[in-house]
Amino acid sequence: MDKFIIYGGNPLRGRVRISGSKNAALPILCSSILSGGVCTYTNVPDLDDISTVCKVLEQLGVVPEKTGKNSLRLHPQNITSHEAPYDLVKKMRASILVLGPLLARLGRAKVSLPGGCAIGVRPIDMHLKAFAKMGAEIDLSHGYVVARADKLRGTRIVFDNTTVGGTENVMMAACLAEGTTVIEGAAKEPEVTDLAGVLTAMGAQIQGAGESTMVIEGVKSLSGTTYEVIPDRIETGTFLVAAGITKGRVTIEGGRAAHVTAVIEKLMDMGLSISEGQGGLIEVDGGCDLKPVHVETVPYPGFPTDMQAQIMALSCVAQGASSITENIFENRFMHVPELVRMGAVLDEKGRTVLVQGIERFQGASVMATDLRASASLVLAGLNALGYTEVRRIYHLDRGYEGLDAKLTALGARVTREKGGL
Ligand code: EPU
Repeated sequence: MDKFIIYGGNPLRGRVRISGSKNAALPILCSSILSGGVCTYTNVPDLDDISTVCKVLEQLGVVPEKTGKNSLRLHPQNITSHEAPYDLVKKMRASILVLGPLLARLGRAKVSLPGGCAIGVRPIDMHLKAFAKMGAEIDLSHGYVVARADKLRGTRIVFDNTTVGGTENVMMAACLAEGTTVIEGAAKEPEVTDLAGVLTAMGAQIQGAGESTMVIEGVKSLSGTTYEVIPDRIETGTFLVAAGITKGRVTIEGGRAAHVTAVIEKLMDMGLSISEGQGGLIEVDGGCDLKPVHVETVPYPGFPTDMQAQIMALSCVAQGASSITENIFENRFMHVPELVRMGAVLDEKGRTVLVQGIERFQGASVMATDLRASASLVLAGLNALGYTEVRRIYHLDRGYEGLDAKLTALGARVTREKGGL
């Protein structure tokens, strides 16, 4: 397994271009199942998770054609299978997003249950309850969800808790259902709005995307389309933190400041200077003494859980006591013991981690456990005295396109070593 060796202490300087959003691209690629024609996508990040979803789609009979590093054409005209097997789904939970489109297009789907993951139990009960309400018969059998519906019916779906994937799955199914589906308590994340964008481009009738109530009028069929994926807001936030933790000065190209408002507000509270330049550039200057911060993760437009580990790393080197509360996932503090190995002073109390600021991290060997935890360890390594070895960076390769190359171009000393534990 590859690892990163990071020599900390270099302030990042220069320009970095943000890649397409992983979490927008995954459901968008799954939505091709609904289409009767060729779908062409641009600004698709070149990531392991994207290759995995392409394999899932290929298994179903969608023919993927890579037309460039960041562009992809999918041919979904001849879907031959309705089954997403365990071997692929276990690699990536988001494979569950084929369930709604398969049910709507073929009237049947057999998708492996994703199982637990490093950040929590992550059940899919809200997805299944919604499909049952739309008229699907659902059985859980031998580790698979087996769903059938001659024709899905539009209905009123109420999500008591926010679910991004649940909202996306139901949206996709509702596009080809009979009648009107109203989703209340819908997730408002930009990735959900982007999915609505592509579905609308395919001919779907969707109102209220990005709001808590969404109304979808079923149509008979959807056509092929060409669509550009939005930039990755979590990668944008991660580079903002990278500038702060190295006291650097970075210009971010191709990100959208409006998608990271809550992150920018917290970072500015900590003392960073952040401004929007011409042509959508985001300028960040981290040359300041960092103030402590209090963060609670909440659904969009609040502070994202996917930035919790990164801001925790930054708060570790702020002057004073910070607190970070995780409200979305029950086990998303796997980075805490690793950050402690790098000298952080952290006290985990249930959903909250109390942080006592230190001057600087110390380089150490640490182990990545999930995608965003890995990012926080890399950030800590960029700040640390001496060298840090971040092992198991395959997690990073799932979600950050060319992170080592981008950091190196900004003046960081990061090298990738192949193999090992
Ligand atoms: N939940 C349930 N039942 C359900 C669905 C969700 O209890 O049926 C719970 C989950 O266990 C979790 C919470 O509800 O505690 C929120 O889950 P949600 O469904 O919103 O998350 P998701 O769709 O599985 C997406 C992102 C995650 C991101 C979350 C929250 C993708 C592919 N993944 O997951 O991204 O953290 O929304 O914003 O879009 C990441 O990129 O590192 C990542 C984990």
